[in-house]
Amino acid sequence: MSARWTVAIAGASLAVVLTFFCAGVNAPAVAGDVATFGRSAVMAALAVGEDSAAAYVGSNKCKMCHAKQYKSWKKNKHAKVMDILKAGNSSEKKTAHNLDPGKDYTTDATCLPCHTVGFGKPGGYVVPAADDKKAVKRAKHLAGVGCESCHGPGGAYLDLHMDLLKSKRKYKVEEMYAAGMNKLGADVCTQCHNEKGPTFDPSHPFDYTKMKDLGAHDHFPLKQREP
Ligand code: HEC
Ligand code: HEC
Ligand code: HEC
Ligand code: HEC
Repeated sequence: MSARWTVAIAGASLAVVLTFFCAGVNAPAVAGDVATFGRSAVMAALAVGEDSAAAYVGSNKCKMCHAKQYKSWKKNKHAKVMDILKAGNSSEKKTAHNLDPGKDYTTDATCLPCHTVGFGKPGGYVVPAADDKKAVKRAKHLAGVGCESCHGPGGAYLDLHMDLLKSKRKYKVEEMYAAGMNKLGADVCTQCHNEKGPTFDPSHPFDYTKMKDLGAHDHFPLKQREP
C-alpha cells in the first residue's frame, strides 16, 4: 500500500479514535488512555510509513492534540486562502494585478504552491478529481495555508509528538528542530510572501516583526517544553 493511501485511510479512523480521548494535550486523562485503550490505534492512525517520513499529513491531524491553535487558525485569513482563487472572489485585487476575476484558479499549478499545503511535495495538496470522494476530503485538509506550511511536514515529527503526549516528559525545543520542525522566522513566511506572488507589492516588502503576530494563530502556553 502506498504511503499516501495509508495516510488517507488513517485519517478517517483517526478522527473517531482521537476525538474520543484526545480533546487536547492538556486533558489530564489523555496519556493514560492512550497507553491503555487507544495507543496502537493512534499509532496506526498517525503512521505515515517510513518512506514518507517528511510527508505532509494535513491540518486535521494536528487538530486532535492542538484543538485551541486549530480553532484560532480556522478563523485566520491563512485558512481561507483557497477561496481567493475561486472565480468572483477578490475581484478588485485580481483586476488590479492583471488576473482574470472570472477565472477559476483553484486548479492552477502556478497559484497552488502558496495557496495550499505542500503542493507538489510528498503527501501535499493534489488537485482532486471531482468524483473521487476520498481525494476531495483529503484535499480539504491540505487547502489554504495550514499548520504544516509554517511548522513543516508532520510526517517528520508526529512520532515525537505522540511520544510526548504518551510520556508527558519534558523536552527542549531543539528536539523539535532535530525531528524536522521548522524554526519559526521570516524565512518560513517569505516562502510565500515574496515577489513571485502576482499581488505582491514591492513598495511593501514583507515585514516579519509587524506581521508575525497577525499571521499566526493565538498562542497558548506549552506545559512540557523546558526553557
Ligand atoms: C509565491 C507565492 C504566491 C503565488 C505563486 C501566488 N500567490 Fe496569491 N498571494 C500570496 C500571498 C503571500 C498573498 C498575500 C499578500 C499579498 O497580497 O502579497 C497572496 C494574495 C493573493 C490575492 C489577494 C487576496 C486579497 O483579497 O487580498 C489574490 C487575489 C491572489 N493571491 C491570487 C493568486 C493567483 C490567482 C495566483 C496564481 C495565478 C497566485 N495568487 C499565486 C502568495 C502567492
Ligand atoms: C504557504 C504560503 C504562506 C506562508 C508559508 C505564509 N503565508 Fe501569510 N499569507 C499567504 C496568503 C496566500 C495570504 C493571503 C490571505 C488573504 O489576503 O486573505 C497570506 C496573508 C497573510 C497575512 C494577512 C495580511 C495581509 O497581507 O493581507 C498575514 C499577517 C500573514 N500572511 C503573515 C504571515 C506570517 C507571519 C507567516 C510566517 C510565520 C506567513 N504569513 C506564512 C500565504 C502564506
Ligand atoms: C502562518 C504560520 C503558522 C501557521 C499556519 C500555524 N502556526 Fe503554529 N505557530 C506559528 C508561530 C509563529 C508560533 C510561535 C513559534 C515560536 O515562537 O517559536 C507557533 C506556535 C505553535 C504552537 C506552540 C504553542 C503556541 O500556541 O504558541 C503550537 C502547538 C502550534 N503552533 C500548532 C499549530 C497548529 C496545530 C496549526 C494548524 C491548525 C498551526 N500551528 C498553524 C505559526 C503558525
Ligand atoms: C498525538 C498528539 C499530537 C499530534 C497529533 C500533534 N502534536 Fe504537536 N505536540 C504534542 C505535544 C504533547 C506537544 C508538547 C506540548 C507541551 O509542551 O505542552 C506538542 C508540541 C507542538 C508544538 C510546540 C513545539 C515547540 O516546542 O515550540 C508545535 C508547534 C506542534 N506541536 C505542532 C504540531 C503540528 C503542526 C501537528 C500536525 C502536523 C502536531 N503538532 C500534531 C502532541 C501532538
